[in-house]
Amino acid sequence: MSTYVIGITGASGAPYARRVLQALLEEDHHVKLIVSPAGDRVLNIELGLRFSGALAARQEQWVEYLGVDRGGLELLGHRDFAASIASGSYAFEAMAVVPCSMGTLARIASGVSTNLIERGADVALKERRPLVLVPRETPLNRIHLKNMLAVHEAGAEVLPAMPGFYHHPRTVDDLVDTVAGRILDRLGVENALFKRWQGDPLAELAGLED
Ligand SMILES: Cc1cc2nc3c(=O)[nH]c(=O)nc-3n(C[C@H](O)[C@H](O)[C@H](O)COP(=O)(O)O)c2cc1C
Repeated sequence: MSTYVIGITGASGAPYARRVLQALLEEDHHVKLIVSPAGDRVLNIELGLRFSGALAARQEQWVEYLGVDRGGLELLGHRDFAASIASGSYAFEAMAVVPCSMGTLARIASGVSTNLIERGADVALKERRPLVLVPRETPLNRIHLKNMLAVHEAGAEVLPAMPGFYHHPRTVDDLVDTVAGRILDRLGVENALFKRWQGDPLAELAGLED
């Protein structure tokens, strides 16, 4: 069992976060979850979620919603700079910000830690731990592109929420799983969420092999 940090920000793409959380917990991993206020808003708009009450109560609601808690889910306050993950001395395995808003991307790129998601990302970079940022934004302006390059140069992985179609997805869940599976790959978590490309099955028939 390893500990993963997941940040949910106010970009579109809440279903990706749900799937990554479920997969980590199903694999017995411990998850420390932080949700920005804008993230909560988008979770409400996209998934109909409205968690309320104190942190412990909201944590229970998350566990109930996800339907799995094998490794243990811990909800951290988004402004709790005294939380374990705010210090480099606390060794978590890896972190993903999924989905990652352009605002959060910009603050990570410039090293500004206004909340625990940004501080966790800052810690991941300085401790050279895997950090996966999952933007959904389109189209991208020059500032977005420059920020993506900056975080990449600092050691983060930019993994845009862009599902492929070569595995013939049939449902929205298939598309979500493709992206979630790639995120888990980058976090170093084995998964079978999507069909891996084994070569073109029609190449031989079409005489394209050489
Ligand atoms: C339904 C909805 C979808 C949004 N989608 C995006 C998005 O894909 N990318 C983005 O950068 N911001 C998006 N926003 C705007 C962010 O929520 C806003 O910039 C917010 O300040 C981000 O704050 P955070 O980075 O602290 O979560 C969206 C807002 C709403 C309400």
